[in-house]
Amino acid sequence: MKINKIKGTLDFFSDDAKDYRFIEQIVKEISSLFGYQEMIIPIFEATEVFARSVGESSDIVNKEMYTFLDRGNRSITLRPEGTAGITRSFVENKLYVEPGLTKISYFGPMFRYERPQAGRLRQFTQFGVEAFGVETPYLDADIINLNYQVLKALRILKIKVLVNTIGGEEARRAYGIALQSHFSSSLVTLCQDCQKRYHTNPLRMLDCKVDYELQVMKDAPKIWDFLAEKDRRYFNEVLKSLELLNIPFEVNDRLVRGLDYYTNTVFEIVYDDNQSSINNLALSAGGRYNSLTKDFDGPATPAIGFAMGIERLLMVRKELGVNNHLDEDNRIVVLTLGDTMKIEGLRLANFLRMHGLAAELDYQNHHLKPQFKLATRFKARYLIIIGEDEKRKNCVKLKDTILGTEEEMSLEDLNKVFNIEGEAYAYL
Ligand code: HAM
Repeated sequence: MKINKIKGTLDFFSDDAKDYRFIEQIVKEISSLFGYQEMIIPIFEATEVFARSVGESSDIVNKEMYTFLDRGNRSITLRPEGTAGITRSFVENKLYVEPGLTKISYFGPMFRYERPQAGRLRQFTQFGVEAFGVETPYLDADIINLNYQVLKALRILKIKVLVNTIGGEEARRAYGIALQSHFSSSLVTLCQDCQKRYHTNPLRMLDCKVDYELQVMKDAPKIWDFLAEKDRRYFNEVLKSLELLNIPFEVNDRLVRGLDYYTNTVFEIVYDDNQSSINNLALSAGGRYNSLTKDFDGPATPAIGFAMGIERLLMVRKELGVNNHLDEDNRIVVLTLGDTMKIEGLRLANFLRMHGLAAELDYQNHHLKPQFKLATRFKARYLIIIGEDEKRKNCVKLKDTILGTEEEMSLEDLNKVFNIEGEAYAYL
């Protein structure tokens, strides 16, 4: 019997595998410019790590975790997200003894038993950052800025940056009570999830996908009216900083996030193309969580972070047609004319490879047509063509398929084009 991959998982190959690694490289490079250092933590943890932090009332803990008993009868969970494990590690390794800000990044697989659909997987990859130790609107704005800059570098600009604040614990409690009283008379008309959330976490009713458009939802009280004055000032300062950083954003007062650990600033960046079937897909999301370290019996440490779904970025880059790597690397195919030149082609490809360039050649065919075909398949930007003529003149013909140019150049000039230091290639 044929065995296929598990529902909600993906195989990456060819261009997709390449784009996956390209995205990985970009997110790591940019976050390191912002001072984040990678932390590598286990893919599974004690179930308690997620139950305590992501929260008993969240969908993730309620119905999406891959939880099992190991052979020692311990309850183990494949991580559904990164923040909980990073916070567990931050406390366990006493990273809080360092004064000031600790900036951590992570990259790796996450697992959620969700209903698979476009962009929603059961195994997916998150890149995330978490910054511990400082509570200031400038850090909040800079975290959103980092998120925005990463997307910009990946050429994903059809996006909406949605921001909101859900205030401190006290404001949320009062707001929760106000929401319950607002919804009490219409509760029976709402969906099953809303009816459940009414009791467990009324804030989550606001972003219900089923009842989102109902008037009773739109008329719900606003968190703003329950916020402490200092929380309002803080949020206004976040918004002002975003403006000064030139980040276009929208305040969405119904953005509440589905994980229980958030406090104050929350945000989500969604794909924005109303012609697309994946319009509004969340590409990344995050927020402040100022009391999570206490849930792990660590000292109170304010924190903020975000995570982005790599597969979703890949999907959007494909849709936007910006996953073409022709201009992101400089692949070369060496084409040879005539029987005697194959060995020169082999030596030249080797020369280029030894100088760190991806070079390929058609080992078999002497005619140009199949060699051009190979160049297309290899997605080469550059074609170097050599024949007896070029050999005699000690030069090559270089074709740049992006610029559409073709020129004869000396072997020394070839070195210059590809930033090769040292001796130029020498024909036999
Ligand atoms: P989240 O909103 O659950 O937040 O996930 C963040 C991102 O991961 C989403 O915006 C999406 O791009 C991607 N993602 C989530 N679930 C799936 C899925 N089933 N398939 C594909 N991609 C998915 C968190 O996980 C928080 N830990 C973020 C955070 C970090 N908050 C503070 N620090």
